[in-house]
Amino acid sequence: MSQILMVTGAAGGLGRALIEIAGRSDVRVVAVGRSEERLREAVPNVALHIAADVSTYEGAQSAVSECVSKVGAPTMLAHCVGNIVLAPAARTTEAQYRDVMRANLDSAFFMLSATVAAARTAAQPASLCFVSTIAAQIGIANHEAVAAAKGGLEAMVRSAAATYAAQSIRVNAVAPGLMETPAAAKFLSTPTLREASAKQYPLGTIGSPEEVAELMLWLLSDAARRVTGQTWTIDGGFTAIRPLIR
Ligand SMILES: NC(=O)c1ccc[n+]([C@@H]2O[C@H](COP(=O)([O-])OP(=O)(O)OC[C@H]3O[C@@H](n4cnc5c(N)ncnc54)[C@H](OP(=O)(O)O)[C@@H]3O)[C@@H](O)[C@H]2O)c1
Repeated sequence: MSQILMVTGAAGGLGRALIEIAGRSDVRVVAVGRSEERLREAVPNVALHIAADVSTYEGAQSAVSECVSKVGAPTMLAHCVGNIVLAPAARTTEAQYRDVMRANLDSAFFMLSATVAAARTAAQPASLCFVSTIAAQIGIANHEAVAAAKGGLEAMVRSAAATYAAQSIRVNAVAPGLMETPAAAKFLSTPTLREASAKQYPLGTIGSPEEVAELMLWLLSDAARRVTGQTWTIDGGFTAIRPLIR
């Protein structure tokens, strides 16, 4: 069966890296983003561009149904939509909170729902990969809103994996630390900020979207056929180790 990989947030840093790597195999890539113009510029060589706002129910449904009618039901979904708003809870506005929930959690749920429905209608297996963050796994100051949204996403992944295991639909996520993409640009805008950020990670570097994309593509592939319901952390040791304690 020929693979159809749908990538949301395709014009973003992670989405673009993932499409570049996936393009080296014979998978058909369907790129989704809110602006067709931005998509065409960011990822010109894909099977189909779909302009849709998947943070709404209607947007996610229409993106998947356009994919089904023009290319076929997606066999893989890499959901790369999300944003980062850093502020303590008491200084997070309602508008900021709603935007974080919409971008990070609503979009994930609506894409899960639409993609799984299409796979079931087509009676075919599927593999889905979402993107969490280390802030959902360990308390990091000023991340309350994004931690709430991504914590919900991780719980959703486990439940959906259980619901659809019998239909051979696998659902996983990755949890990166700071990654060099437009979303993180303001935290890496000077050499001093970069050095301070890198020092927070035991392995001493800032993550690249390519390494996260490689992990996502592995989780989506048949090589990961026994992996479901998992969130795989990729964070230079940030959440698991304390190398300075001897
Ligand atoms: N960069 C990091 O340090 C970092 C760390 C941990 C987790 N993450 C997660 O990694 C994923 C990829 O992010 P990235 O780093 O590649 O960021 P990015 O370059 O900003 O890309 C994110 C994409 O999400 C879409 N998006 C943002 N807000 C949206 C909204 N309200 N409604 C619909 N779409 C929206 C945008 O799509 P359009 O093209 O349609 O505007 C954008 O292309 C996200 O889930 C993010 O939370 C990033």
